Amino acid sequence: MDKLLIRGGKELNGTVHVSGAKNALLPAMAASLLTDQTLVLRNVSTVRDVRTMIRLLEMLGKTVEWIDSDSAISITNGGDAGSGEVPYDLVKTMRASVLCLGPLLARRGSARVSLPGGCAIGARPVDLHLYGLGKMGARVAIDQGYIETSAPQLFGTEIFLDKPTVTGTENLLMAASLADGKSVIRNAAREPEISDLVRLLGAMGCNIEGEGTATLTVHGVQQMGGADHRVIPDRIEAATYVIAGAMAGGRVRVEGCGPELLPALLELLQNAGVALETGEQAITVTGGSELNGRDMETSPFPGFPTDVQAQYMALMTQAKGASVITESVFENRFMHVAELRRLGASIRDSGRTAVVEGPTQLNGAQVMATDIRASASLVVAGLAASGETLIDRIYHLDRGYEKLEEKLGSLGADIERIT
Ligand code: UD1
Repeated sequence: MDKLLIRGGKELNGTVHVSGAKNALLPAMAASLLTDQTLVLRNVSTVRDVRTMIRLLEMLGKTVEWIDSDSAISITNGGDAGSGEVPYDLVKTMRASVLCLGPLLARRGSARVSLPGGCAIGARPVDLHLYGLGKMGARVAIDQGYIETSAPQLFGTEIFLDKPTVTGTENLLMAASLADGKSVIRNAAREPEISDLVRLLGAMGCNIEGEGTATLTVHGVQQMGGADHRVIPDRIEAATYVIAGAMAGGRVRVEGCGPELLPALLELLQNAGVALETGEQAITVTGGSELNGRDMETSPFPGFPTDVQAQYMALMTQAKGASVITESVFENRFMHVAELRRLGASIRDSGRTAVVEGPTQLNGAQVMATDIRASASLVVAGLAASGETLIDRIYHLDRGYEKLEEKLGSLGADIERIT
């Protein structure tokens, strides 16, 4: 199993380019199941989750080919339509496989998708996905660990989501695009990745009103066409590099991601004393300034992203005073706390709240990655720590961060993958 060795304490300087957002790309790839025509997606990152989704689409009868320029893939119909089944083996490595449920059902009239179990950050049910599909007229049953759905035709309807679920909203948008009539999704998630999907579905022929708002009105069509679409930049990757720059000192320009994708984070960082400059498609951070602890609570977009909570906690170990961090989106997302403590951080946690006391000098140690973003917090902490930090189980990082060692190495980090 690969490990990452970081010799900390080096300043970071230079420019780092943000990859395409994995969380925008995965639903966009699933949307290819809505059409027989060719879908070209650009700004595709080569992270493990994207490769898993390629495998899944191939099992479902698609042919996926890389186009040489612009990090693009084309997705076309292959010879064999596949079984219409999404197996447990894939869902257990990538929960987002469940994004195939809505489009498969809408296009083929039935789908059999493994029910995801719990994961490192909480129970993560999909009841709202199923509730919405049921309201559109689908028969939904759970059999031997699989979601079995069928509907000769879906019908437009009103759906109120109890919580603004991201992949749930995406699944329902895709299903509603081929439903008969108009669907209104209320309390929809407003993450930028949803807006990206709305634009893609628009290009494929389905008009959706309310982009960026909590009410999305989908005017279903009989057929969806192909499209050529460039996915948005990965705001979580960008946030991780901004925090790395703030912790390690030096001056880092994070290029390819505009500040509008990270409103809550950038405001909070500035309040904490981080020196930031923002441009149209870039965020520049100058590290080394004295930081003050600031409380933070995660919430759906435009609030502070839960996917940056762990990295922010690492940053707060370098800030003066106490910062209270509250995780409101997931019930069990503090696995990194114990690992950050191994690096010398002073953190108390209880339930969904953690209190970080800083500043503390971090010292390198052996630590374990537990999920994608928890791993990222160990990387940024390791960059700021003195001595060597060895991070085990970095397959979590490989799921969501493209060329991490290469990108950090080009900024001057001493970081090495040990295979
Ligand atoms: C997506 C992101 C993930 C991010 C999360 C929150 C992708 C592939 N993943 O995950 O990186 O951390 O949004 O921004 O885009 N819930 C229910 N019932 C449901 C669905 C969700 O109760 O049917 C709850 C969840 O348990 C959680 C909350 O709603 O407490 C938000 O989860 P959700 O937005 O669905 O997360 P994902 O879409 O799985």
